Amino acid sequence: MSTLTDAEVRRIREDFPLLTAAVTGNGPLVYLDSGATSQKPLAVLDAEREFYLHRNAAVHRGAHSLAVAATDAYEEARRTVAGFVGGTERELVWTSNATEALNLVTYAFSNASAGRGGEQAARFRLGPGDEIVTTEAEHHANLIPWQELAARTGATLRWIPVDDAGALDLAAAQQVVGERTRVLAFTHVSNVTGAITDVPALAALAREVGALTVLDACQSVPHLPVDLPALGVDLAVFSGHKMLGPTGIGALWGRSELLDAMPPFLTGGSMITKVTMESARYLPAPTRFEAGTQRVAQAVALAEAVRYLQGVGMDRVAAHERELGQRLAAGLAELEGVRLIGPPPGTERVGLAAVDVEGVHAHDVGQVLDVAGVAVRVGHHCAQPLHRALGLTASTRASAYLYNTTDDVDRFLAELAGVRSYFRVAG
Ligand code: ALA
Repeated sequence: MSTLTDAEVRRIREDFPLLTAAVTGNGPLVYLDSGATSQKPLAVLDAEREFYLHRNAAVHRGAHSLAVAATDAYEEARRTVAGFVGGTERELVWTSNATEALNLVTYAFSNASAGRGGEQAARFRLGPGDEIVTTEAEHHANLIPWQELAARTGATLRWIPVDDAGALDLAAAQQVVGERTRVLAFTHVSNVTGAITDVPALAALAREVGALTVLDACQSVPHLPVDLPALGVDLAVFSGHKMLGPTGIGALWGRSELLDAMPPFLTGGSMITKVTMESARYLPAPTRFEAGTQRVAQAVALAEAVRYLQGVGMDRVAAHERELGQRLAAGLAELEGVRLIGPPPGTERVGLAAVDVEGVHAHDVGQVLDVAGVAVRVGHHCAQPLHRALGLTASTRASAYLYNTTDDVDRFLAELAGVRSYFRVAG
């Protein structure tokens, strides 16, 4: 699949006012922090404004025409976003972000373990002797909720280790995942190394032992064509703000029969069929997970972000980022005193790379780059265990998106090359 041409990327950049308007002390902004959050095209900002101007009303709870229009927009957005990941509207639950989606899943397990949800929730019941498996490569959102679930249920938390390059050790996975495993949660793309997990292999391993799979797709859905059912996972989460959408919206995708069997997480209005003073009956998924007034404008704007990405073509977005990722990795590997974390140049990665700069703390690196107009993320990137496994406390991460140019990558590399001499740790 062809990559984006320079002219196309220049044209795309015109849709992102912040990228073209922000001029730093050292030229235009080089934004290489899309792994943390992406910039937003005008079409997305306009979609949110258009909703508030012309269709704003509470959804699924009004009989007037405006409420019907808002509900239609909300459900149309659900169809669009679900279709983007290969799913249907029955399979997509709106959440505030991916972290909330993972908490939804872990609290569904927890509520089932406390006896909620009846017989159909039996698959989600955990107790002593059961094992929850995650990996050492996860960001905290796909680790801490599982730690808490283990603590609440008495289940044991285990994890697949990473090797010296920070890649998941798939041989070790065979030892960790076993007949006691009830759930396997893992990331599709590492937010620190940019490595892409062999999802079908891990999903097959889980299936062999009857465990459910939960995929953290935060760093894949924005950057790669992703078909969740085809990957063979049971549940998956992603965030809107990393894929050109607004903050405050994310999603849980799941196979319908599983979502329908999961006890709800947040309870209240709009997710029920019948309520008495003693108890309540719940709607099927996805509505049973959407209690209270919903984030409608954000859903509508996220659907617009998806249309924008589809307009460019996810194959081409991925090809462009692959090229930037390889340029980043190759350039970083050449720099003296700079240790590239993750896959070596020439092996598969997304457009993201992190490094340790010998003798200079990542925060100092980030400050020097910031003065030069290059925005990157520094610190542990919400992945302390992975950094610890690599013998680090922090790193400097550049993460690209469809609007980044090869010049952006080269400017980052050039500025980084000067950091060690700036701090007098190199000649
Ligand atoms: N959102 C976090 C990141 O920047 C985890 O990767």
